[in-house]
Amino acid sequence: MNAPGVDISQPPLPLRRRLVELLLGGGLLASAASFLYPILRYIVPPPSADLGGDTVVAGKVGDLKPNSGRIFRFGSKPGLLVFTADREYRALSATCTHLDCTVQYRDDLHQVWCACHNGIYDLNGRNVSGPPPRPLESYEVHVQGDEIVVTRRQKA
Ligand code: FES
Repeated sequence: MNAPGVDISQPPLPLRRRLVELLLGGGLLASAASFLYPILRYIVPPPSADLGGDTVVAGKVGDLKPNSGRIFRFGSKPGLLVFTADREYRALSATCTHLDCTVQYRDDLHQVWCACHNGIYDLNGRNVSGPPPRPLESYEVHVQGDEIVVTRRQKA
């Protein structure tokens, strides 16, 4: 007696054929996911710890080793958080004042560097060489618990 829905007139598919069908199906699924994921990430941006327009959590204590930096999101712009070799936090706008490239911390120079035209800033954001015409905006940094909170300086 056969189970309902089982057709015994057809021989069972060979294992190899089922494996090929499974791999093709998985490949199609992976292709579809690779197209859909960026679209979803664009439509639904990742959550950010924006505490209001002028304050953001830029990271956690211990995220950075001394003499390193990382980019964080400050509203719609990138910011640069640096943990200096002297174990001080500095936060600057990461948008170069020359042509808006994103700057980065250079641990070999102990300075902020713009790769687009070799612009260099010091850790206070002052433009020290290259084409940048103005300093980077610098932010206040406070450690609150295990969070590194960055705040835009109030203009006088
Ligand atoms: S954009 Fe940064 S140096 Fe030109």
